[in-house]
Amino acid sequence: MLAVTVPEPGGPEALTVTDLPMPRPGPGEALIRVVAAGVNRADLLQRQGHYPPPPGAGDVLGLECSGYVEELGPDTANGQWTAGDPCLALLAAGGYAGHVVVPVGQLLPPPEGVDLVTAAGLVEVAATVVSNLDIAELKAGQVFLVHGGAGGIGSMAIQYAKAIGATVAATAGSPDKLSYCRSIGADLAVSYKHDWIAAVRDLSAGRGVNVILDVMGAKYLGEHVGLLATDGRLVVIGLQGGTQGTLDLGRLLRIRGRVIATTLRSRPVEQKSTVCRRVEESVWPLVADGSIAPAPQTRFPLREVGAAHRQLESGDNLGKVVLTVSKP
Ligand SMILES: NC(=O)c1ccc[n+]([C@@H]2O[C@H](COP(=O)([O-])OP(=O)(O)OC[C@H]3O[C@@H](n4cnc5c(N)ncnc54)[C@H](OP(=O)(O)O)[C@@H]3O)[C@@H](O)[C@H]2O)c1
Repeated sequence: MLAVTVPEPGGPEALTVTDLPMPRPGPGEALIRVVAAGVNRADLLQRQGHYPPPPGAGDVLGLECSGYVEELGPDTANGQWTAGDPCLALLAAGGYAGHVVVPVGQLLPPPEGVDLVTAAGLVEVAATVVSNLDIAELKAGQVFLVHGGAGGIGSMAIQYAKAIGATVAATAGSPDKLSYCRSIGADLAVSYKHDWIAAVRDLSAGRGVNVILDVMGAKYLGEHVGLLATDGRLVVIGLQGGTQGTLDLGRLLRIRGRVIATTLRSRPVEQKSTVCRRVEESVWPLVADGSIAPAPQTRFPLREVGAAHRQLESGDNLGKVVLTVSKP
């Protein structure tokens, strides 16, 4: 089968389309014929050598895919999945390939009314957003901030937080991305190149933000802690702005604030399976009824994986980048 690996870390030219033996499903696993695979920012980091896959996950890139169940391994006979079923998979690795093996708990049905190529870009962002907004206990009436509202995580976060009933602030880097954030429900869309802090504070009527889903890390640590409301939660999931900053513990203590950092990829299968069930129960119905619209996609065939990485890396992409692998 065709698969994408990175023999030596580097730029997009380091991505190698190669022929690998077909994986076999072990106990509790399914073999999936991949139709499409989502491209995530973490894949760029892995390609550069900064984000190695968890032990045993293999060298093929790709954290999510859509496709069809082709074969079930031993101990999977709970009746939920049969060969031929369309499915989505949350992966530790392996989505950029003709076939991938995945624990059955990390399979989900596609949301109703969404084709398999579009759905390939939904799993990783839905799982990340839902699991982190659960941890942050975001509730109706609270103020929520996410950066990069027109990106993969940001576009899902805006829509899911609105569906919960939160007041949503988003940042983005260009006028068309800001318009997109408004079009999917952001109450405030403001450029991160201008005074977004004052605008967000105004939105909260000076009380501060209850939950921040942070894809930037160190760059905004001081600003974020300064913006938190009493009992506010800052959940760090991305480190695009660096890993080390200064934390004002005095302010955190006064507001009884919390700073949390999490990653989805390294969680054990049981936890990922629980997150998948949560996505199925709480996000897919919102996608099916139109409350959450899949983000726009830029698509590339698997063999043009280098161009796909360049597109995401350019910062110009709106929504998701997706690799098409085989016929839906
Ligand atoms: N911890 C986890 O489990 C987990 C899971 C999934 C993703 N993540 C992380 O989440 C982040 C987003 O991933 P993604 O796949 O959604 O990538 P993406 O679509 O490329 O989104 C990145 C976003 O960051 C925004 N951004 C760039 N520079 C910024 C700045 N100076 N200030 C504010 N925003 C800025 C961009 O906004 P513009 O495009 O408007 O410039 C873009 O929308 C990545 O760091 C990824 O590693 C973490």
